[in-house]
Amino acid sequence: MQIQTVGVVGCGLMGSGIAQISAQAGLAVVVREVDEAQCQKGQGRIAGFLQKAVEKQKLAAEEKDRILGRIRFTTALADLASADLVVEAIVENLDAKRELFAALDGLCAPATIFASNTSSLAIGDMAAATRRPERFVGLHFFNPVPLMRLVEVVRTLDTAPDVFDAACAFGAAVGKTVVRAKDSPGFVVNLLLVPYLLDAIRALEAGVASKEDIDAGMKLGCGYPMGPFELLDFVGLDTTLYIADIMFHEFKEYRYSAPPMLRRLVAAGRHGRKSGRGFYDYAR
Ligand code: 3HC
Repeated sequence: MQIQTVGVVGCGLMGSGIAQISAQAGLAVVVREVDEAQCQKGQGRIAGFLQKAVEKQKLAAEEKDRILGRIRFTTALADLASADLVVEAIVENLDAKRELFAALDGLCAPATIFASNTSSLAIGDMAAATRRPERFVGLHFFNPVPLMRLVEVVRTLDTAPDVFDAACAFGAAVGKTVVRAKDSPGFVVNLLLVPYLLDAIRALEAGVASKEDIDAGMKLGCGYPMGPFELLDFVGLDTTLYIADIMFHEFKEYRYSAPPMLRRLVAAGRHGRKSGRGFYDYAR
């Protein structure tokens, strides 16, 4: 079961990265977005990233064109019908994802493998919306997808072993180190990362140190590329809150409970880099 054509649904931050690394691996990619404007925005995001790689002399200009030439954009879901693998990277909303997969189930070949890039929702809950739960996996990439070297490949109770193997092989083919996980909230990385980020906010709330000092402590003391508050702003405070709430709902444990400061910041629209302001100010 070799994957040659990849369908990607959603071309935001994660979808564009997944489409890009698939094309960089020489695979044919079909990206579906909701309208023409979103298709163009997605293509611009990929072209921009590749252009930066050219400027950094990490990629030849002709190679950039070849990579972009492997990605076709469409607004028609039916154009994903012949993909060997469809990776979903739309909004983190279970109903929206279930609806999408039910539609894909009716359109795609019986052999097509379905994958979700969700960071927090149960893969099994999406697989149950299709008649192919055995051909369903999680493929959890990390932001920024082209630079982060990991993908978590997630199996549900129903995932067939050969489908899981094919998904792991795909992860390796697109240049990632594969970590295998079961369909448990947060998989491996967010299970450990989310309590760490929440604890950093609790430390700030308790007045242990300033956010700058906490960030410096973790960067210089532990060798992390970003401190927790820089990472919270990078991931998105709204996204972190959303994941924390799902994990708290599942485990009912204090370490997954969102500190009041996080909820207040999100309510105030301070979502991090994407909104121009989170723990830090990005206005200029
Ligand atoms: N093309 C190719 N390479 C590029 C590039 C591009 N467009 N842009 C940057 N690079 C390369 C750089 O050349 C550099 O390579 P080098 O180390 O060989 O010199 C490397 O990528 C780092 O780039 P920069 O020096 O420009 O930037 P930074 O050093 O600030 O690194 C970062 C940026 C990679 C984002 C780094 O800060 C980092 O790793 N941060 C942590 C990110 C993280 O933890 N992500 C996971 C979030 S959790 C998640 O996604 C899960 C979800 O479920 C919440």
